Amino acid sequence: MENNNENFVRSRWYKNSVVYQIYPRSFKDGNGDGIGDIRGIIEKLDYLQDLGIDAVWLSPCYKSPNADNGYDISDYRDIMDEFGTFEDWKEMIKGLHERNIRLIMDLVVNHTSDEHYWFQESRKSVDNPYRDYYIWRKGRGKNGKRPPNNWTSRFGGPAWKYDETTNEWYMHLWAEKQPDLNWDNPKVRQEVQDIVKFWLDLGVDGFRCDVITYISKTINPDGTIPNGKFNPFACGDELFCHGPHIHEYLRELNEKVLSHYDCMTVGEAANVDIKTGLLYTEESRNELDTIFFFDHVETDMFMQVIPKGFNLVKFKKALVSWQKAMYRKGWIALYLENHDQPRSLGRFTGKFDNHRKEAAKMLAISLHMQQGTPYVYQGEEIGMTNFKFKSVNEMDDKLALNIWNIVKYIPIVRQLYVPIMNKRSRDHGRKPMQWTSGENAGFSETTPWFAVNPNYKEINVEESMSDENGIYNFYKKLISLRRRPDTAEILREGTFTEYYPKNKDLFVFNRSYKGKSLFVVCNFKNKNVALKLPDDISFNNPELVIANYNDVEPISSRTLRPYEAFVFMYND
Ligand code: GLC
Ligand code: CA
Repeated sequence: MENNNENFVRSRWYKNSVVYQIYPRSFKDGNGDGIGDIRGIIEKLDYLQDLGIDAVWLSPCYKSPNADNGYDISDYRDIMDEFGTFEDWKEMIKGLHERNIRLIMDLVVNHTSDEHYWFQESRKSVDNPYRDYYIWRKGRGKNGKRPPNNWTSRFGGPAWKYDETTNEWYMHLWAEKQPDLNWDNPKVRQEVQDIVKFWLDLGVDGFRCDVITYISKTINPDGTIPNGKFNPFACGDELFCHGPHIHEYLRELNEKVLSHYDCMTVGEAANVDIKTGLLYTEESRNELDTIFFFDHVETDMFMQVIPKGFNLVKFKKALVSWQKAMYRKGWIALYLENHDQPRSLGRFTGKFDNHRKEAAKMLAISLHMQQGTPYVYQGEEIGMTNFKFKSVNEMDDKLALNIWNIVKYIPIVRQLYVPIMNKRSRDHGRKPMQWTSGENAGFSETTPWFAVNPNYKEINVEESMSDENGIYNFYKKLISLRRRPDTAEILREGTFTEYYPKNKDLFVFNRSYKGKSLFVVCNFKNKNVALKLPDDISFNNPELVIANYNDVEPISSRTLRPYEAFVFMYND
């Protein structure tokens, strides 16, 4: 609800919340056509309530030709046919709210689909009223047959597409079917404000702002766009990421719309360093409420794409530096998985053999005990794992397919493609959710749009819920710690002190607030590891709050079992 009272203060509810991400295409098929949809989500509302999460982030469900699974929107005020109707959506938000679950929608406004009305108009002529909604430039060279500058698309190839009708090029930092909006045009910013208001007035509680750090591009006063520093995957990044007007545009959106609602925003902030992260999230700056940073999920990647070994010391450093810098200043989103990332099991744990459950619970503890808003990606709560792709024919993701189209001509690289994608592909997280051990993993009555992971026979919701010691029930307990006043307060307000930062096996930290602390120990390795308690903690009245093994002894130095993790609360 809009609130124009000048004393209105936002409640910042996200600081006490755990968010669950739904990728609708892969969550649950409600009408038996093999594609996940809103009716499927409605079927699972009780499931979400049982898990205990506070909010859902729903990946795009708007009208879209699906060139990038809904991240290419052709109508911001309507629902994708495959996902259902507006009535279904209304029933879904009502059902969520009845269960005290908030709804965060995906806001994809760096670009639209090329099938959006604005773009259809824009490409018609240079003097069309919608021309300046997008970024059009003349080409370079004789007859303008070379792209206007050297920037590359995040999906590979030039960031420009030639359009015959007007003999000019339009910018697309993602797929060709995703033309970038021109945020320097006040009309575009007004349109975005109207869209945001439209959804907030329908009761939406917040937005996950897709690639929001890209909306302002460096453009010279004469209208030319400078060349970027050469990098095959990210040429131009330094000129369009965190561009010259980004903070101004975000503040404008906040002031005009967001600040009048008790809502929240989380920005997808690629390439963000801590200094810039603070500019986006410091409360007094009124830009975004929180951001997703990428440092930790890039520690095992070279140039964001090529996998390299996991190094716990680097991983901890990436996380801890944000913990320290944000304390009492900004607020971050905590995540290990989403629809753009491979599954975390295996990736951050090494080969887990028969310790899948312990490993998944350990990862959950390591993340949820930090300061910030934790996100659980569908399937993470039952420990879903990566798929084993055998060939490119089994893949769906645009990014993966585009990379194939580049590397298939290079024999040596071609051979590395499948092994690399088995570690990196965005497809892993997009496999259908595994609900039961029945046909199609209980995701659909028909063959799903994307083949299910054959391990659904062992890994599925039904199995996990029925296992008292399963991952699902562990998540329930972990999430409920944010509802228990003493633990919740430390998690929300507590300081963060790391122990043994150079230790290659353990992640150990302490959260403290007003004389009470949480001591967190996580063994990231599939082997026994010695733990020595820090000398500067006295552990008065220790209470075991949560652990991934059943028989945890009172707090003491000891040998930790594979992936063993626990949290003790004590008085200082
Ligand atoms: C974000 C989305 C990703 C999409 C891209 C372009 O990174 O998470 O899935 O491909 O934006 O919209
Ligand atoms: Ca369906």
